[in-house]
Amino acid sequence: MYRWVSRLAEQRWHCSVRCMSSAVRRRRALQSAFPLLQQPLQPVHQHVYQENLRNSNSCHQQYMEWSEKVKKGGGELATARHTQRNRKLLVRDRLRLLLDDDDYLELSPFAGLGLPYGDIPSAGCLTGIGRIRGLWCVFIAYDATVKGGTAYPITVKKKLRAQDVAIQNRLPCVYLVDTGGGFLPLQSEVFPDKNHGGRMFYNEAIMSAMKIAQVSVVCGSCTAGGAYIPTMAEETVMVHQIGTIFLGGPPLVKAATGEEVTPEDLGGARLHAEVSGCVDHLAWEEKEAYDYTRNIVSTLNFQLPEEEDEEETKRREAEEEPLYRSEELLGLAPKCHDHSLDVRMVVSRLTDGSRFQEFKARYGDTLVTGFAKIHGHLVGIVANNGELSYQAALKGSHFVQLCDQRDVPLLFLQNTAPTAAATLCTDQAEVDSNRLKAQGSMMSAVACASVPKITVVIGGCHGADSYAMCGRAFDPNFLFLWPNARVSMAAPGHAGSLLSPDSEQQQEEEKMNQRLKEESSAFFSSGRLWDDGVILPQDTRKVVRDCLDIIKQQQYQLSTEKLQSPLLRI
Ligand code: COA
Repeated sequence: MYRWVSRLAEQRWHCSVRCMSSAVRRRRALQSAFPLLQQPLQPVHQHVYQENLRNSNSCHQQYMEWSEKVKKGGGELATARHTQRNRKLLVRDRLRLLLDDDDYLELSPFAGLGLPYGDIPSAGCLTGIGRIRGLWCVFIAYDATVKGGTAYPITVKKKLRAQDVAIQNRLPCVYLVDTGGGFLPLQSEVFPDKNHGGRMFYNEAIMSAMKIAQVSVVCGSCTAGGAYIPTMAEETVMVHQIGTIFLGGPPLVKAATGEEVTPEDLGGARLHAEVSGCVDHLAWEEKEAYDYTRNIVSTLNFQLPEEEDEEETKRREAEEEPLYRSEELLGLAPKCHDHSLDVRMVVSRLTDGSRFQEFKARYGDTLVTGFAKIHGHLVGIVANNGELSYQAALKGSHFVQLCDQRDVPLLFLQNTAPTAAATLCTDQAEVDSNRLKAQGSMMSAVACASVPKITVVIGGCHGADSYAMCGRAFDPNFLFLWPNARVSMAAPGHAGSLLSPDSEQQQEEEKMNQRLKEESSAFFSSGRLWDDGVILPQDTRKVVRDCLDIIKQQQYQLSTEKLQSPLLRI
């Protein structure tokens, strides 16, 4: 699997170089003027629009409530202990010192909320992508106000997903480590399996060998498993009297040997910088550590394109805003599949100048495909506009392969039908089988397209249609949900399609529908990290632009040739 990812990454790199060398020429030559997509709101839309708007407003309320919850971290007591007794900076203040600005893309901020084992704000660690000295980097920053920064199962999942993002997009990875290791009461769910705690260290080695930089800052405790993160990083900074690295802390030493030892003597910054060599830089206080880290990032083998700056400026100046207000997306975000307006209305509120070069407009019209620009980036858009029929799926395959052929990134706007397709067509075996075949082909086309893929679930994410529309299992570079999105095999109210026809009990169906309602909300999904976060519809254009900028950065890495081994700390 890794070899495949690596090979694919290398292929992409060579392919990117090929694209880049011709990009400047092409941008000049092809001053595109895609047709305007005239999609104003009409009186006939008002009823559905208003219903959607009411639903969006209520989803927004939950979005705000969860955002507030996340901001509080582990709560007042833990925050006081962290800042006053332990004299450490809070995680968001750390990020402020590390990153160029506040304009970063946080990943899955709601992960950890509403889980069977309780609310774990930010899953105990913030992850995202921010700029350091102009270079987009993934950050994985522990929040020690949440149970000492220990790793719950969701924490492990979140960290591994952030590393995945770094691998897929070839982004340097910076770890701010402040953790008590695994959360002991749930040790069986964080320790033994392939995608548990150890995978993080495995990834660090693999990424280093792939020339994806690994930098860490020890700004708190690095106990047990946590100790390997800085030790395996390529370059590590450690903060005096705040950072400690050891496999077992002073209480463990006392219990084992009776010896009393201070944390500083057992595994403090001076010990590791002067004696063990586990770290490379000693910072006397936290701010200095982030300054060091910023300088380390400036030594990485990237060369951001100075000579293209002018071109970049021109590109940005030439960008046109959509003709319609992005806030209108709130009324276009479907409350349910029955409340879906023509998806071209959504497209026209996302693309530059509301321009869209539609492909196969008169064929398979339950899928809308075509080219557009988003903040100057050319993208191929694939958007559901009803059920993914036989013709729609064929068209989808064709268009996805077309984009792959032309190295154009894909943007999927997913709003799939509420029920599993097969159950709709029991009387029409042929139609059903043909559709199955076409959807299978589209899944193959999507799975094997080597261009970057971004999926935004703007409505339903149900059944097999969602796979073909580049759902999570199809490994899009990024996948976001709108707050109104619903994620489940069948939509609430369609439980009948999942139960066997002879299951007589209406009660069972009602129970199942209730369960689908609870378990399909965007927040339920995001709490479990089935996506990269819930984004507001009106922010979609910016988020997609950031993703495209981030993905593009790999073109500016000077060398990506795989090393024989990761960098070893010897
Ligand atoms: N598993 C479960 N809970 C843990 C934990 C662990 N490994 N480590 C800490 N906690 C909990 C504490 O019980 C406490 O919970 P509370 O707020 O409900 O009281 C909370 O995390 C904070 O711990 P506390 O010791 O009060 O904070 P601190 O800032 O002084 O120290 C640590 C934080 C992580 C340095 C310290 O708790 C520690 O050394 N923990 C043990 C680490 C360890 O041995 N890990 C091995 C795991 S493989």
